[in-house]
Amino acid sequence: MTQACIIVTGGAGFIGANFIHQWIATEPALSVINLDKLTYAGNPASLRAVESNPNYAFARADIGDFDTVCRLLAQRKPVAVVNFAAESHVDRSIHGPGEFVQTNIVGTFQLLEAVRSYWSALPNETRRQFRFLHVSTDEVYGSLQASDPPFTERSPYAPNSPYSASKAGSDHLVRAYHHTYGLPAITTNCSNNYGPYQFPEKLIPLVILNALAGKPLPVYGDGMNVRDWLYVGDHCTAIRLALSKGRPGEMYNIGGNNERTNIDVVRVICGILDELRPASDRKKHESLITYVADRPGHDRRYAIDATKSSDELGWKPTDTFESGIRKTVRWYLDNPDWVQGVVSGEYRKWVETNYSRR
Ligand code: NAD
Ligand code: TYD
Repeated sequence: MTQACIIVTGGAGFIGANFIHQWIATEPALSVINLDKLTYAGNPASLRAVESNPNYAFARADIGDFDTVCRLLAQRKPVAVVNFAAESHVDRSIHGPGEFVQTNIVGTFQLLEAVRSYWSALPNETRRQFRFLHVSTDEVYGSLQASDPPFTERSPYAPNSPYSASKAGSDHLVRAYHHTYGLPAITTNCSNNYGPYQFPEKLIPLVILNALAGKPLPVYGDGMNVRDWLYVGDHCTAIRLALSKGRPGEMYNIGGNNERTNIDVVRVICGILDELRPASDRKKHESLITYVADRPGHDRRYAIDATKSSDELGWKPTDTFESGIRKTVRWYLDNPDWVQGVVSGEYRKWVETNYSRR
């Protein structure tokens, strides 16, 4: 008999890898199959600790490859599919939007088609219990003014970057597959995550690693853009709860209630590093802060109202920004081998593309 399992797509990325670690530690009855294309953002080193666990298996594949995904579904017979796979970085979407349309929209469409074909042939009870969980972002709602209330699940979609537009497109497809075909799909829309295994193209790991290397800490524009930061472990818990308690066809907003300006985030990181790893010349890490040209179309503020997730799923974040950021800085200090494996060839090219002409 095949062991009962879920399929996770994009599990070699930042949130997917954290999710797999959490899943294996907490859900022993269901093994996890990680379907990942291994783009620049996919890193098998993030999964070293579970590689030989009997409850984990890896399949290298593209979510847009309908035949391969169908074969995997038929072989493994998952009770759920959790879709993390995506191109996820706003700055990259500005330099090259094509990949974002391809993976986030066309790829999600092909994945939905494969899942629909598998799901519709399941026996009644298994079909009823099956879940497709689509992991999305608060960025689909667009940008808030300082005095606006946070986004709820009823806020209109108003994406502003090629990244958020492509995620919005995928969310609409997921919604349509529920309404049209009855696919038991749930979408979660989460705010900015941070924590272990995040690729250093994103603000928090970039600042930690640049500060350790004595390099400039690039702050876009006036540094006053606001993000609602959530520790990645809390996001993973919310996804597990949405899988077990979420209602098919619904969206659930997930956020940390931790609104911070970018400059504040950078200063907090600098302060922790001054304490844990003082610079050799004893200069404060803050002296590395460098204001650079703003991101085109830069969203000013995101904020999430997670009341529905709290009421229906019983979810609450456990980490504050202070506890989560301290754990995160420590993790990067304690894992130099993982960092070394990441800041190699392709990463250097990206740094050149994004920062040399700012
Ligand atoms: P990431 O860029 O770190 O990882 C993406 C993973 O998807 C990588 O392992 C990559 O190899 C894989 N992948 C990319 N294209 C693929 C394809 N065509 N087929 C199969 N695998 C493919 O991303 P992340 O930060 O872990 O984000 C995961 C998901 O969560 C994304 O859907 C993202 O939109 C969403 N999200 C992220 C955040 C955040 O702050 N990082 C917040 C809210 C929502
Ligand atoms: P990022 O981590 O790219 O996430 P997102 O754009 O999805 O919110 O960026 C977080 C914030 O930090 C965003 O307002 C852009 C800003 N930022 C900088 O100021 N400097 C940087 O080098 C990067 C990568 C981001």
